[in-house]
Amino acid sequence: MAAAWPLCAALLSLAFRSSGAASSTRHLSVELNPGSPAPHAGGDLLHVRALGDEDTLHFLFCSQGAPTLLVVHTGVTSSYVSVDWQRFLSRNASGSLRVEPVSSIVSSTALVFSRLLEYNDVNNTADMPYELFPPYQLRNITWSAMELSGAAARLCGAVAQGSVCLHLSVFDGEGRDEMWPRLLHTANSSQVAVRLNGLLPRSRRSRFLLELHSVGGVYPLNAVGVRRSIDDEFTPSIFKVSEWTSGANESSCDGCGFVLWKQVAYRHSPPALEDASPCRHTEPRRQSAGALAEAGGLALAFFATEGDEPNGVFGLNISFGVAGEPFYDATKFLSWTALVGVGPPPSDTFSPLVAAIMAVGLGAPLVILLMGGVYVCLRKRSASSASGYEPIN
Ligand SMILES: *[C@@H]1O[C@H](CO)[C@@H](O)[C@H](O)[C@H]1NC(C)=O
Ligand SMILES: *[C@@H]1O[C@H](CO)[C@@H](O)[C@H](O)[C@H]1NC(C)=O
Ligand SMILES: *[C@@H]1O[C@H](CO)[C@@H](O)[C@H](O)[C@H]1NC(C)=O
Ligand SMILES: *[C@@H]1O[C@H](CO)[C@@H](O)[C@H](O)[C@H]1NC(C)=O
Ligand SMILES: *[C@@H]1O[C@H](CO)[C@@H](O)[C@H](O)[C@H]1NC(C)=O
Ligand SMILES: *[C@@H]1O[C@H](CO)[C@@H](O)[C@H](O)[C@H]1NC(C)=O
Repeated sequence: MAAAWPLCAALLSLAFRSSGAASSTRHLSVELNPGSPAPHAGGDLLHVRALGDEDTLHFLFCSQGAPTLLVVHTGVTSSYVSVDWQRFLSRNASGSLRVEPVSSIVSSTALVFSRLLEYNDVNNTADMPYELFPPYQLRNITWSAMELSGAAARLCGAVAQGSVCLHLSVFDGEGRDEMWPRLLHTANSSQVAVRLNGLLPRSRRSRFLLELHSVGGVYPLNAVGVRRSIDDEFTPSIFKVSEWTSGANESSCDGCGFVLWKQVAYRHSPPALEDASPCRHTEPRRQSAGALAEAGGLALAFFATEGDEPNGVFGLNISFGVAGEPFYDATKFLSWTALVGVGPPPSDTFSPLVAAIMAVGLGAPLVILLMGGVYVCLRKRSASSASGYEPIN
C-alpha cells in the first residue's frame, strides 16, 4: 500500500496541474516593425506582446544582423517597446531599442543565432578536431521578409543553394506542437525551430554545428543542465532534455530566462522515428565584450548603451549527428527545435496514460501480494487460534 500511495498522489497532482495551468494564459498581440516610419531595407522586427494578469512578456524577433530572439519580462501590464528607428537601422544601433518603463523589467534574455559551421567528418567520428570549412555568418545572409501567421513567424535566408529557416511560435497557453519533438510549452515560452533545407554540402561527409549566443542582463544564461526522463511518450527514443539557464541559483531569479531543447534533430520533414539524430552541445563559454557588437542587430540595440561594456554574453555549439550516423548529404535536411521563455522550464510529467499503465503494472502485483499477505496472515491466525486450545505436552 505504501508504494501505491505516491502513485495516487502523482495522479492527483497531475489532475491538479493541468487544471491549474489552464488558467495560466496570456493575451497576445502582434506587431511588425512597431512605429517604423516607412518600409525599410533592413531586417524586419517582430514584436509579440504577451499580456498576463499582472505582468507582460515582450517577444522580439529580428533579422537585422544575426537573427535574434529577445524575451523581456516586465512586472507590469503597461510596459511597451520603443524603437529609435533611425539609429536602429544604422550600424550604430546600441541603445536604440528599449522596453519602458526600464524599472519594470524583471529579466531580459536574447538568443542569437550566430553562425552555421560545417566540417568534413573524414573519419566519421563527429568529434574534434574538426576539419572546418569557412563558417556561414548568419548576420551576413540576406533574410526574407518575415512571413506572419497569427503569433508565428517564418524567416528564411539563402545559404549554399539551400535555405536556413527559423520558425518562431509564441503561445497564449499550455500545449504541445503536433510535430516531433513535441515540446511542452506554456504561456511563458516561445518555440524556435531551425531548418537547414537543401544546403549543398562542401564534402560528402559534411556535418553541421549551430553556434548560439545568449545575452543576459543581471542573470546571464551560463550553464546547461541535462535532465533525464524515463518517459519518451511524446518524443520517442529521446530521454534527455538540455536546459540552458542562469546556473544553479534559480531561487534568486524565478522570472529569469531559459532555453530548452531535447537532444534530437530530425533528418526529414515531417520527422519520422528513423530520422531522429542525436544532437550534442558544448558547455557555454563566456564571450569577449566584442561578441555583442559582432552579433549586432537586436541584441546590441537592446543591451548595449553607450560606453557600456556589454556583459553576460555566453556561447555554445549544438552539433548534429554522432559517429556512424548518416551525413548531411544523405537527406540534405536537418531540423532542430528549442523553447525560449521565462520562469521554470516546463517539464514533462507522466501523462495520465503512462501513469495509468504504471499504476496497473505496479499496482496489480501489489494487490496480489497484499491479498496473498492477508491470506497468509489469516491462515496463520486461524491456525494459531485453532492451535490455541491444543494441550501442551
Ligand atoms: C552612435 O550614436 C551616438 C548617439 O547618437 C553618437 O554619440 C555616436 O557618436 C555614434 N557612433 C558612431 C560610431 O556613429
Ligand atoms: C583521420 O584519421 C587519420 C588516420 O587515423 C588521422 O591521421 C587523421 O588525423 C584523422 N583526421 C581527423 C580530422 O580526425
Ligand atoms: C560578413 O560581413 C562583414 C561586413 O558586413 C564582412 O566584414 C565579413 O567579412 C563577412 N564575413 C563573411 C564570412 O562573409
Ligand atoms: C508564467 O509566469 C507567471 C509570472 O511569472 C507565473 O505567475 C505563472 O505561474 C507562469 N506560468 C507557467 C505555466 O509557468
Ligand atoms: C545566489 O544568489 C544570492 C543572491 O543573489 C547570492 O547571495 C548567493 O551567493 C548566490 N549563491 C550562489 C551559489 O551563487
Ligand atoms: C563552436 O565551434 C567552433 C569550431 O570548433 C569554434 O571555433 C567556436 O569557438 C565554437 N563556439 C563556441 C561559442 O564555443
